[in-house]
Amino acid sequence: MIEVKNLYTSFEQKIVHDNISFDVKKGEIFGILGGSGSGKSVLLRQIVMLDQIQKGQINILGKDIKNLNMEQRNYIKKNWGVLFQFGALFSSLNVIENIGIMLKENTKLPKELIDDIALTKLKMVGLNWDVGKLYPEELSGGMKKRVALARSLALDPEILFLDEPTSGLDPASAKAFDELILELRDMLDLTVVIITHELNTITNVLDRFCIINDTKLAIVGTYDEALKENDVTINKFLKLKRDNIGK
Ligand SMILES: Nc1ncnc2c1ncn2[C@@H]1O[C@H](COP(=O)(O)OP(=O)(O)OP(=O)(O)O)[C@@H](O)[C@H]1O
Ligand SMILES: [Mg+2]
Repeated sequence: MIEVKNLYTSFEQKIVHDNISFDVKKGEIFGILGGSGSGKSVLLRQIVMLDQIQKGQINILGKDIKNLNMEQRNYIKKNWGVLFQFGALFSSLNVIENIGIMLKENTKLPKELIDDIALTKLKMVGLNWDVGKLYPEELSGGMKKRVALARSLALDPEILFLDEPTSGLDPASAKAFDELILELRDMLDLTVVIITHELNTITNVLDRFCIINDTKLAIVGTYDEALKENDVTINKFLKLKRDNIGK
C-alpha cells in the first residue's frame, strides 16, 4: 500500500530523517512512533504530498508519488482521508456541513445527497443524527475527534492517516476511539496509519509500528518483536510509556 524508501529530510542544518525505509501492507494498522520533534508529522505530510520529499522515494499503491502529474495526484488523494494533529473543524459550519465539505468541493452531488452521506458517516463514527446540527464549539473533545474522523471518511477512502487522534482525550474516550478505529478497519477494509504515543493504542490497536529515534528507525515490527529485540532504545521508549500509564 505504502513504501517509504531511503527517506532523507533535513531543515537547514538539522537532519530529521536519515535513510528511513518501511512499508505498510493493505489492511493493517501501522503506527509511526517517536519522541516529540522526531519527524513523525513531517513524514506523514510527505506521504500525503503536502511536504516535499528531499531525498528518497515514497510509493503509494505502487506509484512513485514524485512522478505523478496533477490529475494523478488528485486521483490518488481521493483514496485517502487524513486527520491532522491540529486539524480543526470549521467553526462556522455545523457538523453535517463539516463532514460534507470534501464532497461539496470534489463532487457535483446535490446538497440533499451530500447531507445524507454525511449523516451516514456521522452514524458510522458512533454519533447520533441530532449531533449533525450542532456547531464545533458545542461538542466535547471526543465528539470533535469523531466528527473529524467522519469528515476524513467522507470520500470512502482506502487509506486513513491519523496524527495523534486520541491526544487530549480522557482514557475512556481514548479507549472508545481506539475500538472505533479497529471496527472501521474491519468494516470498511481500511489500511490505517496512526501517529501515536499512547501505550494502549500501541498494544491494542497497532498491527505493526516503526519507532523514529534520532533520525533513524529503531525498529519496524510488532509489539512482541520490539520487546524481543531487547534493545536499549526500544525498551526505553516502550518502558517510558508503561511507566507513564495512570499518571
Ligand atoms: N517546515 C519546517 N521548517 C523547518 N523545520 C521544520 C518544518 N517542519 C518541521 N520542522 C522541524 O522538524 C522536526 C520534526 O517535526 P515534526 O512536527 O515532524 O515532529 P513530531 O515527531 O510530529 O513531534 P510531535 O510529537 O511533537 O508532534 C522538528 O524539529 C521541527 O521543528
Ligand atoms: Mg507531530
